[in-house]
Parts: sequence; structure tokens; C-alpha cells
Amino acid sequence: VATVVIAPAVLGFTAVPKSLADIVTVPTGYTATVLYRLGDPIASGVSAFANDGTDTNFAQRAGDHHDGLTFFGLAATGTTPDPTSNTRGVLALNHENITAAYLHTAGQTSVGGARPEAEAIKEIECHGVSVIEVAQTGGTWSYVQSSSLNRRITPLTPMAFNGPVRGNAILRTVFSPTGVAGRGTINNCANGTMPWNTYLTNEENWAGYFRRSTGDVVARGGATSKVNVSLARYGIPEGRAGNNNWATVVPADATSTNFSKWNITVNPTAAADGTGDFRNEAFQYGWVVEIDPFDPASTPRKRTALGRMNHEGCQIGRTIAGVRPAFYMGDDAQNEYIYKFVSTAVWSAADAAITNRLAIGDKYLDAGTLYVARFNADGSGTWLPLVFGTGPLTAGNAAYAFADQADVLVNARLAADALGATRMDRPEWTAVNPATGEMYATLTNNSSRTAAAVDPANPRAYNDPRTTGGSTNGNANGHIIRLRETGDTSEATSFTWDIYGFGAGSDLDATNINLSGLDATNDFSSPDGLWFGLPTNITGTSTPLMWIETDDGAFVDQTNCMLLASIPGIVGDGGTRSVTSTLGGATNTVTTRIGKTPGTTLRRFLVGPKECEITGIHSTPDGKSLFVNIQHPGENGTAASITSNWPANQSGTAAAGSRPRSATIVITKADGGVIGI
Ligand code: FEO
Ligand code: CA
Ligand code: CA
Ligand code: CA
Repeated sequence: VATVVIAPAVLGFTAVPKSLADIVTVPTGYTATVLYRLGDPIASGVSAFANDGTDTNFAQRAGDHHDGLTFFGLAATGTTPDPTSNTRGVLALNHENITAAYLHTAGQTSVGGARPEAEAIKEIECHGVSVIEVAQTGGTWSYVQSSSLNRRITPLTPMAFNGPVRGNAILRTVFSPTGVAGRGTINNCANGTMPWNTYLTNEENWAGYFRRSTGDVVARGGATSKVNVSLARYGIPEGRAGNNNWATVVPADATSTNFSKWNITVNPTAAADGTGDFRNEAFQYGWVVEIDPFDPASTPRKRTALGRMNHEGCQIGRTIAGVRPAFYMGDDAQNEYIYKFVSTAVWSAADAAITNRLAIGDKYLDAGTLYVARFNADGSGTWLPLVFGTGPLTAGNAAYAFADQADVLVNARLAADALGATRMDRPEWTAVNPATGEMYATLTNNSSRTAAAVDPANPRAYNDPRTTGGSTNGNANGHIIRLRETGDTSEATSFTWDIYGFGAGSDLDATNINLSGLDATNDFSSPDGLWFGLPTNITGTSTPLMWIETDDGAFVDQTNCMLLASIPGIVGDGGTRSVTSTLGGATNTVTTRIGKTPGTTLRRFLVGPKECEITGIHSTPDGKSLFVNIQHPGENGTAASITSNWPANQSGTAAAGSRPRSATIVITKADGGVIGI
């Protein structure tokens, strides 16, 4: 770590100003091209997208709310991976959620309290994952509509369970009486790019989709029964309808469980074999899921060894031969934790293979140790192991009696509570600097952080001075924490940490809010997506760029969401700082650890259209084509009152009346150079 070269000293583009315009803006000399939009057909014979609410068959179209993404190189012909390809590949990307207002002719409807089947199936199929072939021809990227590699994975696609929870009673359903399989993945947020050419998709806000009727707590043994403690800890109280009310659909095929599976209420009139009872369905979700993007017939594998939570993303750290690799993960909810998983298997370079991809995933992702982070006031930190039988993780634990390792993994949050991990300000993406091995994690914001509850790693709580645009109190603008493993090894059980940067408007209090001294060229709020460019991005230096994407509520009076580029330093380069928080009548001062003021090493590269989030980022290996996702433009509009016309207006021509669409864009440089330098 000590020999890191901080170069280039200055980023190679002029900062894009903050903007409220309904368009993607990139620096002079760069071009943003729309590549893959909601509804785009991905099989031959599927009609072009009408974009007026009449479209169907989203299992053969792009889904909604594009999120995490990875570019995997393809050989010049055929379907074989080629990790060196810069002109042909497959994009794997997540479809986290939907803007239902634009999916139907006049928004969501219900008839007599029941959602129409045709509307619900569209909404379900708009979630999940896309795998699509893309190619650059004559300098222009496009996706290949008829490629045999194209695939949609949806909340109804069959999945396998792997790892310690496979076969556990909590996974047993009518669909899989032995608990080894499940159906679907949902609310897929950030991603993971594995060196063995697979894609990780991560189930984040899955809990909200489930219906649970009043009386179910009693049916499951009362509030203190283990299953009720678990459901409560994961945010599934009784008396809720479930997002989009899918469970209300009365399907034409009475045997279909496509909709009833979203109702987990214990069914006392279920058939003797359990048909009609979906009580365990919520335990099918909250996992890291591995997909082989080169084999459309393969069954995705849910990797239970990595624990169950609101998985934001899962990124692997540096791989070093003979060393057990680490995978870093955030649990995105207020006051949740940062985790890492360390494989039992040591890394072998031969496993960066182009065959047997999911079997290599089995080797690294099915056995190992899950840890949760505790950040200490002195700048040290501890990885606390979630291992059954150690510390409080036993049947004698007062808050929750753990039965075995599967129970610990299914209830990772309860285990982390028992271990005394540090409650963070909504952990979103993780990213590892390939030059140093240091791990960065975005903490997007936390409106429930109070002055009384600040700690050195989550040191700010304030009254957000913004009065418009969904402002929040607490840690309104978020921060980015980073850690250096002891001995610079992924196997470490301790680390040192500091805070790379604090989000804030440049006009805010420099003493206690704008701690990183942000200015008009780089002020941001609510960091979310985070990615290090591939090591070859900067030829001849050892410090790749770090890219930061925002998903903001507190700063939208000033600007739409954005993408910034950074040349980061190293843990400990800024020293300590005293921060005073005042909120709700309380005043509290803590000493935090802060990175050096970024100044010209952090610069705004892109601003998105209205009401969007910028998320998902990856590039070709030469760094010359940068793929970025624009999620939910115009999300606050309705079918009758559209609030964005992006991307139809991206070319500069007016597109009044055109409904907005989430989309993947690709950014290139006029001189054909590496993006950002
Ligand atoms: Fe899906 Fe936490 O963002
Ligand atoms: Ca996110
Ligand atoms: Ca977010
Ligand atoms: Ca989102």
C-alpha cells in the first residue's frame, strides 16, 4: 500500500455542472449513446416497443429500473468468453423495480379489489435480470436482438439453492419439498463480477413484495416464536398487502401459483400436501444469486453461505494465488451492517476460467466464513465471525436461539445484532481498489441517525437545510467509508478505517457537514453505486479511477443525480476530525477519521435526466467504452402527467408525450481514448 502512485494528478476532463435538465450530460469530447431501454425486444419476432402501456411479453423484452451491470467479453465469433474483448460481449444487468405508472395505458388498476392478471404478469416480468449480447461496429454500440445468448431471468425463473442452507426445513415449499430449489429473484440491486466469468445479482428490498395478513403472528406461535422474531427483524410484519398487490390476482389458470406465492400467510385450509400454503416463500429471498451469462440454459444458484439480508451488492476483493478471497457486501437498510465472506478455498489463478463457471462458483461461494464489521473509535476495526457455536451464536442466546449454521445464515441480521456489529448509515455498494486492496463502501444516507446515536464511523446527524426535493434529516447526504485489511490480506480478521468522503452541498457548513470541502465541481449527495475502473484504465500507473454514482433525495433541489470520477488516496491520509451533531435538541461531538480533501482529484463526470438515479457501471477492459445505467427517469410522474421524456429526447430533439424509460447508455470519447483520463 505504501508505494501507491497517485497519478494522473488531475482528471482528464472538465467537470460537468450540476443540472436540472431532462437529459444526460457528459463532458466536452464525450458522447453518451442510448443502448438498451425498458421494453426493447431481445428475441427475433418480438415487436418494437410501443411505449404506450399496450406492450406485453416482458419475458422477451428489457425489464425496468436498470441497476447493477457487468460487461463480459465474448470471442470474435460464437459464445465463448474472451475477457480481453473490447468490441463484443454480453451485458448482464439487473432490473430492480418498476415505475408502474408507465407500464399500463392508464397506470395500475384493480377490479373489485383484485389486480388484473395481465397487468401483474407484466410487472413481475419487468423485474429480474437481462443478459444481452452487445457489439461495437464502426464505432457504434448496439445490442443484438436475435442473439442466442439473450436471456431474461424473472421472479418466476427456477433457481437452485447452494451452500449450508440448501435442504433446510425453512426452504421447503410445495415447489421444492426438499428445500433445494426455488422460483425467482426479485429487487435485484447491485451486482458482482466474478473472475471466473459469472455474474452475481443481489436481492435487496424483497421483503416488501410479500402479503401477510393479520392473524399470521398468532398462527406462527405468537410474537416470541423464532419464525416471528425472524420475520419481524427482516421487515415483514402482519397486516400488509405486499407491493403491487400481486397476491390478489385471480388467474385464468386456477392452478397457477405465480401470484399466490406472494402471500406468505399460513393457510389453514391448504391441501394435505401443502398446496396453497406459501409460508416459507419469504425465506427464498434475500440471497446472493450467481448467474452464468454465457449459458442461457443454466439454472442460477442462490449462494446461502453469504447470508440473508437486503443484499445490495457483492464484490470480490483482490485475488492472490494461495490466499482465500474475500467478498464484500452491504445490507441496505437504516442501521444495518457491512459484511464480508471469506472462502474456505484458496485462490488459484487457473480458476479465472472460461469453462465450468458455476462449478468454480461452488468452490469459492459455498463454503467459508461470513463476517460482520465493527468499527472502533481508535480507527481499528474487527471482522466478527458469524459461526454457529461461537460467542453468542448458540441456542442460549437470549434474543434468538440459534439452532445451527443454517439458522445463523438465514438470520444473519440477528446474528450480527448479537455480535455487536456497528450499525451503519445504509450500506450500499462496495468496491475494492485493485492497486491497494482497500475496500470502499457507500453509506448513502440515514434519516434515522440522531445526534445521540452518532459514532466515529457514522459521525453526522443534522437538520438538512434543504427545504424542497424530498429532504431528510439525520445523515442526509451520506458518506463513503473505506478500510484496509490488516496485513493487506483478504483473510484478515481486523482492519483500519477512515471516511474517504462526505456528501454535502458545497454551500453547507464546512465545520460539521461539508467535511470534505466539496466545491461546485464535485459536490454530491447520497453516494450509492461505486466501482473501480479496471487496472488497465490508466496505463503506466497503479491507481485506477474510482467512479461514484448517486441516488439522492436531499440534493434534488440543486441537481439531478450524477456520476463522479475520483483518484482516491489511501486509508489514513487525512487524519482525525472533530464533528459536532445537533439534531432533535441533542448535541454530540465525536472524533472521526477522514480522508484527504479530494479537491481536483474528485470531479463530476455526468448528470442524468429528471427524477432518475444513476446506477450500474462497468467498462470494456480497455476502459474506452463505459456502460452506465439510468434508473427510473420521471419516476414521480403518471401516465397522464409525464415528468420526463428521456431517453427519446437524448438526441436533442423534443419528444413531448414520450414516456420515460430506464436505459443502459454507453459513453465513448471522440478521440477513442480511455474514459476519464
Ligand atoms: Fe437498490 Fe440500496 O439500492
Ligand atoms: Ca443502490
Ligand atoms: Ca439508493
Ligand atoms: Ca433504485
